[in-house]
Amino acid sequence: MSLAKFVALTAALLVTSASALNILLTNDDSWASANIRATYSALKDDGHDVVLVGPAVQQSGKGGTAVLPTVNITAPGGEFGTVPVGAPYFGHELNDTNIYYFNATPSESVLFGLDIVIPQFFDNRTIDLVVSGPNEGNNLGPFTYTLSGTIGAAYTAVERGVPAIAFSAGNGTHRSYTTNTGLPDDPANIAGRLSANLVAALASGFNGTGRLLPLGVGLNVNFPLFTPGGNCTAPPYTFSRLTGSATIDKLFINSTTGFPQFEDFVAPGLNTVNNGVAFLPGETDVVQGCASSISVFSVDYDAPSPVAEPVQVQLSAIIGKAKL
Ligand SMILES: *[C@@H]1O[C@H](CO)[C@@H](O)[C@H](O)[C@H]1NC(C)=O
Ligand SMILES: *[C@@H]1O[C@H](CO)[C@@H](O)[C@H](O)[C@H]1NC(C)=O
Ligand SMILES: *[C@@H]1O[C@H](CO)[C@@H](O)[C@H](O)[C@H]1NC(C)=O
Ligand SMILES: *[C@@H]1O[C@H](CO)[C@@H](O)[C@H](O)[C@H]1NC(C)=O
Ligand SMILES: *[C@@H]1O[C@H](CO)[C@@H](O)[C@H](O)[C@H]1NC(C)=O
Ligand SMILES: *[C@@H]1O[C@H](CO)[C@@H](O)[C@H](O)[C@H]1NC(C)=O
Ligand SMILES: *[C@@H]1O[C@H](CO)[C@@H](O)[C@H](O)[C@H]1NC(C)=O
Repeated sequence: MSLAKFVALTAALLVTSASALNILLTNDDSWASANIRATYSALKDDGHDVVLVGPAVQQSGKGGTAVLPTVNITAPGGEFGTVPVGAPYFGHELNDTNIYYFNATPSESVLFGLDIVIPQFFDNRTIDLVVSGPNEGNNLGPFTYTLSGTIGAAYTAVERGVPAIAFSAGNGTHRSYTTNTGLPDDPANIAGRLSANLVAALASGFNGTGRLLPLGVGLNVNFPLFTPGGNCTAPPYTFSRLTGSATIDKLFINSTTGFPQFEDFVAPGLNTVNNGVAFLPGETDVVQGCASSISVFSVDYDAPSPVAEPVQVQLSAIIGKAKL
């Protein structure tokens, strides 16, 4: 081996060891989704130690709902036929003891990872980062922030004090990892690679101590739409904010069916700028083009002082009393 080659190899090894993270990977579309397995592979390819603990079945739209299993796996079994009926409420892949299913909501899956799986089966290693997703479909703005199980798992981790990133991909097709074409243009592989790239950026310079993100803070990341053979394969990352063109449901009665339906509504409440960097574009706008959005969120839901103050002034007369 030439000296130059040795130096290059050593530098590569140093970079790898300095930035290798202990990652807990979860999602809401189930442990067997194409996106989560592609991300598992991409993170491992980058040298990280990854433990996957994902819901046994599709748990989309559960937000931070906390539901624990009280029975073993019931009919029809794990997502895409991955777990037989009657199997224990949690278990791992036969050929990979780092990949677990847990029959619960995303929020409880991340806690089962942190409180049970990591202490019991991984020597209680310190988790540097929770990665959630990539979700099958975008999660844009404050309304989906509370609704999404993918973001729910991320904010649950942040609330516990563990840095977390929620990833959501524009392609919403719900599919098993067994349908992955193995080609670089498979939407799951693009999302997996881009997720690992952002983790690498966060990890660069990480020395194994300290924190990857401040306490109480996480990231909400959205990718644009990926289509096999499409030309959007390397969207540039862009800073964004949750508010800005964000939508919430608006209901109407369908005159044919007589039942309520929703349409997207750009409402004023969820687009009011109370926090964050006001000039950044809304994540909803960013992913309309071939770009990925990075929003920094905080789990401190208190309104900032200037916003809270007039409300407190208005109510000051009742403070210390039960009625006026
Ligand atoms: C759940 O599965 C475990 C492991 O197979 C078994 O020991 C236990 O009896 C089962 N519990 C129920 C309530 O079925
Ligand atoms: C485990 O098996 C699955 C499906 O049979 C396969 O896709 C995967 O590559 C295997 N993993 C390992 C680590 O051998
Ligand atoms: C795991 O480590 C944490 C942090 O050091 C500690 O608080 C906890 O008690 C440990 N849990 C177990 C089961 O050893
Ligand atoms: C590692 O990084 C943290 C935070 O970035 C810093 O506080 C600490 O001093 C560093 N430790 C070493 C051994 O370099
Ligand atoms: C999403 O990905 C799937 C799987 O590759 C693909 O069949 C589908 O066409 C994609 N959807 C869109 C809208 O491009
Ligand atoms: C992708 O192709 C469409 C239609 O041909 C074009 O409008 C768009 O600019 C292209 N996007 C990129 C990122 O090249
Ligand atoms: C009302 O429901 C019918 C039947 O499901 C559907 O075809 C139609 O598109 C709906 N109308 C609207 C405005 O969404």
